[in-house]
Amino acid sequence: MDWSPTSWRSRPASQQPDYPCAREVEEVVGLMSRLPPLVTSWEIEALKAQIAEAAAGRRFLLQGGDCAETFEDCESGNIASKLKILLQMSLVLVHGTRKRVIRVGRFAGQYAKPRSEDLETRDGVTLPSYRGDLINAAGFTEAERIPDPQRMLRGYERAALTLNFIRSLIDGGFADLHHPEYWDLGFVKHSPRAAEYQRIVESIGESLRFMEALAGTTVGEINRVDFFTSHDALHLPYEQAQTRRVPRRDGWYNLSTHLPWLGMRTCDLDGAHVEYMRGISNPIAVKIGPGMTPRWLNGLLDVLNPENTPGRLMLIHRLGAGRISEMLPPLIETVRESGRTVLWCCDPMHGNTERTASGIKTRNFDHIVSELEQAFDVHERLGTYLGGVHVELTGENVTECIGGARGLTEEDLAREYKSQVDPRLNYEQALELAMLIAGRAGELEQ
Ligand code: PEP
Ligand code: CO
Repeated sequence: MDWSPTSWRSRPASQQPDYPCAREVEEVVGLMSRLPPLVTSWEIEALKAQIAEAAAGRRFLLQGGDCAETFEDCESGNIASKLKILLQMSLVLVHGTRKRVIRVGRFAGQYAKPRSEDLETRDGVTLPSYRGDLINAAGFTEAERIPDPQRMLRGYERAALTLNFIRSLIDGGFADLHHPEYWDLGFVKHSPRAAEYQRIVESIGESLRFMEALAGTTVGEINRVDFFTSHDALHLPYEQAQTRRVPRRDGWYNLSTHLPWLGMRTCDLDGAHVEYMRGISNPIAVKIGPGMTPRWLNGLLDVLNPENTPGRLMLIHRLGAGRISEMLPPLIETVRESGRTVLWCCDPMHGNTERTASGIKTRNFDHIVSELEQAFDVHERLGTYLGGVHVELTGENVTECIGGARGLTEEDLAREYKSQVDPRLNYEQALELAMLIAGRAGELEQ
């Protein structure tokens, strides 16, 4: 069946806002279609090749960042801390797994959120739900909540600013493995895990010096680390606007991000999101929640990766600590029977969201760890490779998830809770999780 960047429009599209003026949406999409892309097809193809290697067990993928970026948080400190924690985690993972790590940020475009309700009522006033800064604002007034298409342009610009800063930092040497001190976060010294992290840093420094002494030169390629971007391809007019053909390559690319993913609520086989995703050449990911059935998954494999293209498809399971051991095996069997290769990745966050007695959204570190451990167990038992992890985190010292080495409790949540949407791991919890994964993934090698 014919595909075009607009063919999704003939299908039912869930999670889309109700704009007051359709013509203005088209004007903005038209304008964005002429602006330069945020990423290139070379980078996208490089990531696809790396994902193919991960699917074959030779790399590990780390994907992380905020649940939702906000326009306000588009500032240097915030972006740099996110890079720092991802770099630190990846260092721990490289050390533990002895594999190259692919770093993918949930950033430079993670501005749209799925919501369970279209409307929100407070004190008798009903307004559209907040759907992320790409669509409307979080404040509870009509002016803030009415969807505004100009926000797509603001989002595109913020994504460009974010990416520009990240690229400059990386090119300037921020991620140089000779200088892990560049990534220290202010409160690292007080962390219960600081000593362990320092030992890892020293051991990597030693290996680097050893190799350089042997080679008689600096080790060029390992000096450089790459970062790729990803976001939930939820808001289809935004995705469409950046979907282009490029010279000397076949097909269409979504040039707003390297790795777009389909959320759990937008992977209906007949829906607009699957229609859009099937036609682009990027590597893509699909979130697999507890409602997924073998039959549905088979349909997705057929539509999204009919040719079994290496590196094309990543499946991110997010089933919850209570359900994963029962639900994951039949899904793994389904993929195995289909004869297709995917990169398996675990999101231990979204199946473990809960509310405290006072109604605050949180996640318990123990449940996050438990889902991850079970994920490693199930894949090991079935002979598949768990090659990635997907987490919501921040480099800031927030108190949004309970537990971890410092033992955050429900009472602590009131102190530094900043997320408008899902609760994120803070720096210490994220590093602790990386150590745990490194331990588990490293064991598999022995
Ligand atoms: C998310 O990643 O923030 C999200 C909403 O995930 P899911 O689609 O898995 O619920
Ligand atoms: Co989230």
